[in-house]
Amino acid sequence: MTDYNAFFKETINQLKIEGNYRVFADLEKIAGNFPQALNYKENSVSEVTVWCSNDYLGMSQNKIVIESMIEAIKKVGAGSGGTRNISGTNHYHVLLERELCYLHQKESALLFNSGYLANQATLSTLGKKLPECVIFSDEKNHASMIQGIKNSGARKVIFKHNDLEDLEKKLKKNMNAKSKVIAFESVYSMDGDFSPISEICKLAKKYRALTFLDEVHAVGIYGKRGAGVAEMQNVMNEIDILQGTLAKAFGLIGGYVAGKKDLIDFIRSFSSGFIFTTSLPPCIAAGAYTSIRHLKFSDTERKNMLKNIQNLKLLLKKTNIPFIDNGSHIIPVIIGEPNLCKKTCQILLDDFKIYVQPINFPTVPKGSERLRITASPNHNDKMIKELVNALKIVFRNLKINKAA
Ligand SMILES: Cc1ncc(COP(=O)(O)O)c(C=O)c1O
Repeated sequence: MTDYNAFFKETINQLKIEGNYRVFADLEKIAGNFPQALNYKENSVSEVTVWCSNDYLGMSQNKIVIESMIEAIKKVGAGSGGTRNISGTNHYHVLLERELCYLHQKESALLFNSGYLANQATLSTLGKKLPECVIFSDEKNHASMIQGIKNSGARKVIFKHNDLEDLEKKLKKNMNAKSKVIAFESVYSMDGDFSPISEICKLAKKYRALTFLDEVHAVGIYGKRGAGVAEMQNVMNEIDILQGTLAKAFGLIGGYVAGKKDLIDFIRSFSSGFIFTTSLPPCIAAGAYTSIRHLKFSDTERKNMLKNIQNLKLLLKKTNIPFIDNGSHIIPVIIGEPNLCKKTCQILLDDFKIYVQPINFPTVPKGSERLRITASPNHNDKMIKELVNALKIVFRNLKINKAA
């Protein structure tokens, strides 16, 4: 190749033609006033209401979380200064890992710099190191799990989404594999549906497989102490490796895995994505610790979020705006065409000061482009009415009427 730039330009152009080119909204959250944010454009700035944040419980704005971070930064400074092995284990990291053990009732927990990394690094280490490992992966698993499995070099067997029969058929077929891991999520992020955790764990036991459960969209929200769907369904003990994030309902950044002592020690000792990177700033660990502990005892955020979600779903139904209702906090409104999806969001932003990011391929399959709406405890009835009214007008004007 001689003209590399022409190649890059042409490939990007193709994305634009397909409607899959990503444009980031330039936002400045207004502290203490979530879900309001300033939206910067070339020649203007306006205040918008955010309806697509994964800061599900508004914890990024929580006063005690912020105070604990400021206190930590004053006490120990900004960055951690090293990898966990070389001077980068601050006492805040240790306290946080201990708190994660209590939360998930596991012997041990390990912090990563993101949920993506926790998935990618853990699965790649297991797949690489376990003898003759086969990884069974739900077809709707997140990109971070897919990447981890790919990097591991282990054999991957994809089972149909949430399909126990298909999973069992495939486990049976690979009965003689020396080691097996079943990787799945508790709440799938784009459709908001739950997995049959207990039944998958039973199959894992029957075929002697380890279970790896991604609870990224569930921690903080489900279960009476916010430990996730496994806590809500009383099956935490059944899970071998529980993976979560500190970046969504807990309001910060970072990811983790929790499980038996030896298993976590194994990941700690062999996972490249854990070993060879600077650890999270201690103030992040301090904030996450405060956030987790707060949500362990306070139900207010969860209750208010649920109330807003119920009200929003009711109003959407009343207004005949089709959405997928899988009983979770995630509300997907299917548009089904990438350019139309983008246009819908653009009008919502420009004319109604409502920010919902269009979700297009490859995040969701082609033909299922959507708005992925999330309501936090900080939204209110007026905002809900404004959102539904705006959707009604835009759907009518753009002639969108696709049943979900
Ligand atoms: C199911 C799932 N797992 C993992 C991740 C990655 O988590 P993080 O954002 O903390 O990197 C995401 C991110 O959205 C996700 O949806």
